[in-house]
Amino acid sequence: MTNEVMREYWNSDAGRTWARMQERMDATLTPVTAELLGAAAPAPGEHVLDIGCGSGETTLALAAAVGPEGEVLGVDISALLLEVAEARAEALESDADFIEADASTLPGEGDRDLIISRFGVMFFDDPVAAFTNIHTHAAPGGRLHFACWRTPAENDWAMLALRAVGHLLPPSPQADPLAPGPFAFADPERLRGILTAAGWHDVVIAPFDFLMPVGTGADPVADAVKFSTKIGPAAKAIREAGEAVQDAARAALAKAYAPYADGEVVGLPAAIWLVSAQA
Ligand SMILES: C[S@@+](CC[C@H](N)C(=O)[O-])C[C@H]1O[C@@H](n2cnc3c(N)ncnc32)[C@H](O)[C@@H]1O
Repeated sequence: MTNEVMREYWNSDAGRTWARMQERMDATLTPVTAELLGAAAPAPGEHVLDIGCGSGETTLALAAAVGPEGEVLGVDISALLLEVAEARAEALESDADFIEADASTLPGEGDRDLIISRFGVMFFDDPVAAFTNIHTHAAPGGRLHFACWRTPAENDWAMLALRAVGHLLPPSPQADPLAPGPFAFADPERLRGILTAAGWHDVVIAPFDFLMPVGTGADPVADAVKFSTKIGPAAKAIREAGEAVQDAARAALAKAYAPYADGEVVGLPAAIWLVSAQA
């Protein structure tokens, strides 16, 4: 079955961590949400599809924006994250709907004015086939807006931790930069080619840079250290290492984060593409 590795991934450890840390992840990604929703400009009455909606932060904001005349559907392959999204919708008495399905094969009805995603579209085995299918959801003149990461080298929030503790951990195999995963769309020309081949027009790929608050509070460095042992490229290896290595890793991380502390925040450079296209 297509996207099986990612289905397994988002329904096990990764899904559990994101579900448990929903509030924290949404706070960390606030600048992205604001920029993405601002660019997408959902209007009252619009029909919207949120791809890889996870625990529902953008879906719920979209449902509020389109109002009772509109309709918002969040689609995700992670039952764990959808459970959180549905509970949040119920608590907020939101009209947002959710469906557990693979966005690359869920058939569309050509009725969505807006298709949006905050970091939920980089995980497809066959991105051209996936975006061709996603196109079937778009109404004539419908618009696509999503956020995806630029290169790891431009994203210190992900790489600083890895650089700081790399010497303490067993070497990890060189990852294929084009494989499904957070950085799969880092190359804008490849991304443009994928969207164009899938039938999308007027593709615009614009950079957006922000400081990601990886640590906050009275001791933001300690908070950032805790965060990077839960999420990010070094997290799993640190968790699986022995106690002595973990202590050394925590000390190395604290040293690496200290220069980025400003008051109650450790903010690390983050770099994304804000992508838009027309059906
Ligand atoms: C990085 S998370 C982002 C979640 C959410 N959009 C957010 O910003 O909090 C990526 C999400 O994409 C979902 N996903 C990955 N592949 C998918 C697919 N083929 N169809 C639907 N959802 C998918 C994952 O389950 C996960 O919830």
